[in-house]
Amino acid sequence: MRYVVTGAAGFVGSHLLRALLERGHDAVGWDAFTDYYDPALKEENAAGLPVERLDLVDDPLELEGVDGVFHLAGQPGVRSFGAVFPVYVRENILATQRLLEAAARAGSRVVFASSSSVYGDAETYPTPEQAVPAPLSPYGITKLACEHLASACGRELGLDWVTLRYFTIYGPRQRPDMALARIVSCLVEGRPFELYGDGSQSRSFTFVDDAVEATIAAMERGRAGATYNVGGGEEATLLEAIETLGRIAGRRLEVVRRPRREGDARRTSADTTRIRADLGWAPATSIERGLEAQWRWAADRVAAA
Ligand code: UGA
Repeated sequence: MRYVVTGAAGFVGSHLLRALLERGHDAVGWDAFTDYYDPALKEENAAGLPVERLDLVDDPLELEGVDGVFHLAGQPGVRSFGAVFPVYVRENILATQRLLEAAARAGSRVVFASSSSVYGDAETYPTPEQAVPAPLSPYGITKLACEHLASACGRELGLDWVTLRYFTIYGPRQRPDMALARIVSCLVEGRPFELYGDGSQSRSFTFVDDAVEATIAAMERGRAGATYNVGGGEEATLLEAIETLGRIAGRRLEVVRRPRREGDARRTSADTTRIRADLGWAPATSIERGLEAQWRWAADRVAAA
């Protein structure tokens, strides 16, 4: 199959593109190499992969003959109040609107990477897809707007699409602003970790290889117009994750308390009944094994530098 992966130099996108190529697909990546975090890390993620530099808002989008687009590009990060909002509008809403319309014209299926942050502090836990979305962060609002754009393009322009709500994905090459990546680098470098809030906030942490499996399954077998939670099986608090990583590293993390950040959900917990039933997908990686893989990758990278 011919596929395009947007955001292919990012954390999840680079794992996904590599997996598609390993399975013999004809796949290319598009990425704008934005500076949300150090673009040198994106160059490192994309090394050896066919990733073209392309801006979804400004550049021509050629999708003729493309069977499917995995749309993972976007401005990430839930801590998104303030002057940064126009960037979220551009990189998420404007970019997605253009991509979806191009895909509808070309007849390419789209798998869109949305986020558990559309739920906010959810009405029920574990949270099923039909829960009423109530995002707490401007970022989550832009992701929800993109979901609605996809559904409008489906109804009005004939777009074939599937929405995935990813729950806090982690593993080797995790985005450096995310909690587990920061904890790991603080442990490696012996620096203190800034903990926002009291550490009792919890997440359905999802290992990246599991997320990639779910994403490919959604392209191949997802119901047109369906939304699926992609969430890890075990929920963990941040304090539990810190404890597990400290044990794996054999080091003690120094923690500095900071106030809770606006936009931050207290809890995420994925109800994965629908994705199990439709796609036969279930998370396969325990938190312990996933964190070991992330730690080993970070420690090896430092050793090799
Ligand atoms: C993450 C991603 O950043 C979003 O892009 C994504 O959409 C979302 O998951 C999702 O999947 O729904 P988040 O769960 O906030 O958002 O992920 P982390 O950045 O790993 O934060 C987890 C918890 O650690 C949060 O409560 C956060 O406040 C806390 N944290 C984070 C710290 O205490 N210190 C830090 O330095 C960073």
